[in-house]
Amino acid sequence: MDNLITRRKFLEVSMATGATVFAGGKILAASTTAPGMATNPTFKIGGDLEVNRLGFGAMRITGEGIWGWPPDRANAVKVLKHAVDLGVNLIDTADAYGPETSELLIAEALHPYPKGLIIATKGGLTRPGPDEWVPNGRPEHLKEAVDKSLKRLKLERIDLYQLHRIDPKVPAEDSLGALKEAQQAGKIRHIGLSEVSARQIEEARKIVPIVSIQNRYNFDDRKWDSALDYCQRESLGFLPWAPVGGNRGLSGSAAESIAKAHNADVYRVALAWLLQRSPVMLPIPGTQNLQHLEDNCAAAKLKLTPEEWKSLAA
Ligand SMILES: NC(=O)c1ccc[n+]([C@@H]2O[C@H](COP(=O)([O-])OP(=O)(O)OC[C@H]3O[C@@H](n4cnc5c(N)ncnc54)[C@H](OP(=O)(O)O)[C@@H]3O)[C@@H](O)[C@H]2O)c1
Repeated sequence: MDNLITRRKFLEVSMATGATVFAGGKILAASTTAPGMATNPTFKIGGDLEVNRLGFGAMRITGEGIWGWPPDRANAVKVLKHAVDLGVNLIDTADAYGPETSELLIAEALHPYPKGLIIATKGGLTRPGPDEWVPNGRPEHLKEAVDKSLKRLKLERIDLYQLHRIDPKVPAEDSLGALKEAQQAGKIRHIGLSEVSARQIEEARKIVPIVSIQNRYNFDDRKWDSALDYCQRESLGFLPWAPVGGNRGLSGSAAESIAKAHNADVYRVALAWLLQRSPVMLPIPGTQNLQHLEDNCAAAKLKLTPEEWKSLAA
């Protein structure tokens, strides 16, 4: 039923993609969309959690070095509330952001949560200090991490819990086994992974159902193209982190001239490019700045021409 679409939507999709299939008198959208042509505004994570594809990353609402409280805590609360006002209903966070402060701020700003808001958190990275990240995939650690995130987020169940890193010192089946147990206990609805190859996703799926991946990806950093293609084939959500370049920024004069042509900035162009890259793409740009948040959310309405899209992909 997911790919059954109305006649009106059919016309929009077919005009944009040329990809349509007729079956049994019904109009079906093709299950995959050519790169540069994705048009669906929403995606169902795990087949049941429908989100607007442009989300928000809550790592940047913490202090310097992703450590402690932000310099202006009231502003961080405002940013979170405003993201939801602007239609964001997928917020990404982690126990490691702050640590703890990102999850605490989300609860402070948004609890009791509006219906349909999906909070995706993570566990499996610990924080000895600012800008320091150390994997810990031991089952005991992960079980405790899930319980602590539930408490901080004031949730009875976490909709999407992502293993922040596969810990090279711990067999993946042990780490994922702990998350499977938490899922069976009703503490987690769906499980996702972060910074993994297509092969690692396949291996993980032998242990537990996986619904999403979170890897570094933007038009300037395409290292994980094959993992993304795997996600698209398998209908897994792909949450690109650093969607507007993160700490490294974005390069390329092509993006600047495209931005100019659309009276936009390169950040908005980068996000529009991602949304058009794949129908499973769920960008989670992060910011502490209300204006940047508004600019980023406007990317959902920016459509690049196929030529513009290709010139950034080149
Ligand atoms: N799974 C992982 O391992 C992993 C790793 C890193 C991040 N993440 C997740 O991915 C999310 C995004 O990653 P990220 O924060 O590294 O990268 P990002 O969203 O690409 O970049 C955020 C940076 O860009 C700036 N920015 C954002 N929008 C802007 C705009 N319109 N104009 C000017 N500057 C803008 C922000 O500064 P201002 O505050 O000044 O706007 C911030 O410094 C994080 O929030 C987190 O949820 C996951």
